[in-house]
Amino acid sequence: MKTFAYMVLLGLLILEAVFAAPTKNEETSKKFRQIQLLPDDHFEESDYMNQDASDSYDYEGELNIDEPLLEIGRLTPSGNSVLVTYDSDYEEELIPHEPLDPGAPSVPGLLGPDAKEGLPTCLLCTCLSGSVYCDDTDIENIPPLPKDTTHFYARFNKLTNIKKGDFAGLNHLKRIDVTGNMISSIDEDALRQLPELVDLMVASNDLEQLPELPNTMINIDASYNKLHSNGIKKEAFKDMNNLVSLYLAGNVLNFVPLPLPEGLRSINLQNNNVQQIDDDTFCNSKDIHYVRKALELIRLDGNPINLSKTPHAYVCLPQVPHGNY
Ligand SMILES: *[C@@H]1O[C@H](CO)[C@@H](O)[C@H](O)[C@H]1NC(C)=O
Repeated sequence: MKTFAYMVLLGLLILEAVFAAPTKNEETSKKFRQIQLLPDDHFEESDYMNQDASDSYDYEGELNIDEPLLEIGRLTPSGNSVLVTYDSDYEEELIPHEPLDPGAPSVPGLLGPDAKEGLPTCLLCTCLSGSVYCDDTDIENIPPLPKDTTHFYARFNKLTNIKKGDFAGLNHLKRIDVTGNMISSIDEDALRQLPELVDLMVASNDLEQLPELPNTMINIDASYNKLHSNGIKKEAFKDMNNLVSLYLAGNVLNFVPLPLPEGLRSINLQNNNVQQIDDDTFCNSKDIHYVRKALELIRLDGNPINLSKTPHAYVCLPQVPHGNY
């Protein structure tokens, strides 16, 4: 009798392990979710580190054999209820990689222009009302994009550069997200003429310099690249009146890129090589009444600088920077 009970328990454990094993789609979903849930204002470098090593993402924690009975109670009746619950929160945001129905009547332009592989871009990727999702598709080049593209996602691919013509004429393009590729160069002319570009996400690549960007930018994330101070143009961000967040963590920058636009809310410079700031980096030594009220977050931790040495550099700020004191 006791043996029988053990066998039943063993059977249940195996069942649990089978259902808990991540499928290919689920793995993709998890990567998506990691990104989607990144809070805009509180960037943590560890998130990007994890994304960078997308292959080595650790799924062990999902396979929790210690508490199988509770889970199985929910699993048994419908078979897959637990897995469905797992992703349901975010199903609306995640666009699954399902090819369009091949039997559907062909509408000109619906599938977008043909990519190099001969496959229409919107079969290779997923296109949905202006958004083109090419995450995890192993692409090495930016595919030709439909003229009405507003949001382009190509995270975790094998892109190595962005060329002048890649986004040419995409006058409604607002967001480019190529996080987690191997991009080492972006042509100087590739982005500056995009009239509506507001978000550029190029974190976890190999960039040594940033190209010229349009002044419409709101969010720039170039964390975890190889940016050195000469790779950022003089006064690069000065006229970006709408710029809210500037993420440059995990590079090799020697100084804070100045001047910072007045509306900037957060600048992330942790884990760089900043060695000095002075009374005019954030504030204005000539105007003691000046207040930089928007700048709520300054990350300077992980830099070889002792912020105690410049006590007057923060008098105009709502918060002192994070860093060594
Ligand atoms: C920074 O400098 C101050 C004053 O010179 C000193 O008291 C403090 O220990 C230093 N902090 C660090 C983390 O080196």
